[in-house]
Order: sequence, then C-alpha cells, then structure tokens
Amino acid sequence: MRTIAVVNQKGGCGKTTTAINTAAAMAEMGRRVLLLDLDPQAHATIGLGRDPNSFSKTLYDVLTAPGTGLADVAVRTGVDHLDLAPCNVLLAGTELKLASTPAKELLLTRALHDVRDAYDLCVIDCPPALAILTVNALVASTDIIVPVQVQYYALEGLRRLLEMVGIIRRRFHSRSAENVSLLLTFVEDHTMFSRQVQAQLREIFGELVFRTVIHRNVRLAEAPSAGEPVLTYAPHSKAAADYRALTAEILRMSPAVVKPGRDRMRGGLKKQLSAIFEGVWIPTRPRSHRLVAPIRAHAVEST
Ligand SMILES: Nc1ncnc2c1ncn2[C@@H]1O[C@H](COP(=O)(O)OP(=O)(O)OP(=O)(O)O)[C@@H](O)[C@H]1O
Ligand SMILES: [Mg+2]
Repeated sequence: MRTIAVVNQKGGCGKTTTAINTAAAMAEMGRRVLLLDLDPQAHATIGLGRDPNSFSKTLYDVLTAPGTGLADVAVRTGVDHLDLAPCNVLLAGTELKLASTPAKELLLTRALHDVRDAYDLCVIDCPPALAILTVNALVASTDIIVPVQVQYYALEGLRRLLEMVGIIRRRFHSRSAENVSLLLTFVEDHTMFSRQVQAQLREIFGELVFRTVIHRNVRLAEAPSAGEPVLTYAPHSKAAADYRALTAEILRMSPAVVKPGRDRMRGGLKKQLSAIFEGVWIPTRPRSHRLVAPIRAHAVEST
C-alpha cells in the first residue's frame, strides 16, 4: 500500500491541511484512502468534523495496546472512500509508554501491513516534532511530503529532517521514504518576496520540489471550522484546485513510474544533502556570502 507521510517538525507549515486535502482528493478520484491522525493535537480528526474525545479506541491504542489494529479504530468520514484513524491528546503519552518496547519504530509499519488490502493509499498527518511518532511514520512510508512555507525562515530545520530520512532509509528498509518531495505552501504569486523565496527553493532543491504549489487561500483556513476538507467545503475554490493538482502530481510520480534518471534523492542521499546545503548552509550567525542572497542568509538551521 502506498503510504504518504506529511512531515515537517516546523509548526504551522500546512501539514494537516495537506494531509486532509490530498487524502480527500485521492478519495474523490475513487481510491480507498485511510488518513492517519498521528498528531496529539488531533487537528486532522477535528478538521474532518470529529470530536477527538468521542472515540473509545484511537491510534494510541493501535500503538500501545497489543491486539488493537487499525481496522478497530478506523471510522468513516463525510467523504466517500475516505476513512480516518483518529487520535486525541492521549497520543502525547506514546513516547513514555513505549520507552522499553522493542522495535518501537516499526509499530505503525506492522499495523498498516494488516490493512494493506483494505485501502489503496494511506496518508499520515505527523506532529511538529521529530520524535517516536514521526519516526514510525517515516519508517512506514513509501513517500514523504515536506510542506515548506514560503517565507523568510523556509529552510529552518529542513536539514535535520532530511538527514533523519536518510538514517531511516539506511537503518530500516530501502522502500522507506523512497520518494521525498517538498511542497511549497502559503504561496502568494502577487508578491515579489514570495516569488523570490519560491525561486530560491527551486534553485536549491530542484526536482525535489513539486511543480504544484499551494497558494495562500482563506478557504483553507475556513474549512476546518466546517469540519470538512476544502474539496467539499469550497469545491470550486482555487485551494481545491491546488490540492487536486497536487494529488494528480503525486499519483503520476508513483514509485513504479519514477524515471531512473530523475534523481529524487535515491541512493547517495548523504552526498546529495551536502551538495544541497553547501553554500546555503551557514552554521554560525548569518553573514554575507557570495551564494547567499539576503533571504537565504537568514535561513539558518536552528535545531
Ligand atoms: N495555503 C493556506 N492558506 C491559508 N491558510 C492556510 C493554508 N494552509 C494552511 N492554512 C491554515 O494555517 C494554519 C496552519 O495550517 P496546518 O494546521 O495545516 O499546519 P500544520 O503544519 O499541520 O501545523 P502543526 O505543526 O501545528 O500541526 C491552519 O489554521 C490552516 O487552516
Ligand atoms: Mg498539523
């Protein structure tokens, strides 16, 4: 089952919005989709109109109670073909609860294996942290989408995240995180600043960046309060069109059709990472640098 984790330890960059709306767009295209809410904030659960405290069993039980599977917690949503594995704040206790559990990084991989025939695709909304929940998602996923808010600190934390993807790929199986893609979010075509940051990110990350971008759009901010994906809340909006286009792009680049020549961080990840960050990486305080334009000069790794 193709499994797509939406990951970035940076808060508020559009992970949940992307997880909900790509999952909904895939379901709209007739795929059977499971959305996993792996963030104790339960924003995906709430964003699909469900009360996190209304469930007797959640993802927390799947990860911590032997014998509870995803099939026991998955619920239908208002979108045809889209199921949700909900969570609530209890999930925040997972790290502590699993402290002495062997192979705790593989719990989600195993849980997903059991439902592999029930769904075509799984989308995972990750928390803004690189801890055990995110590690479980990275290990279980074939694809990683990293939403990057087009703003001044766009690169912050990205190096650490991408290095972690590399470690996971080496340590677990080679299909883990096979496709890593950056998604530019909160894009504003009419401002020079947004265009400039966007161009710089494309220059740095090249083919890793989705061609589709997600524009800043008020419908995306409104939809969660209606408990719906933007695809049903405002089906003719620019935001819905953006997410449909992104989903089509994701489905086109399915692992089976990625061209070998199209280098999407396969193989020598470490080498590529150094190449990517060389020249843009400023380990100490920002200073002028021939290769570093003003915006990039402040995009310093802080974690
Ligand atoms: N393209 C957009 N245009 C306008 N508002 C957006 C856009 N994308 C997301 N938002 C809004 O911005 C806020 C943060 O988005 P979201 O919750 O998806 O980020 P996140 O990365 O999941 O945050 P967290 O790290 O807290 O989980 C939300 O209120 C959301 O509705
Ligand atoms: Mg979120």
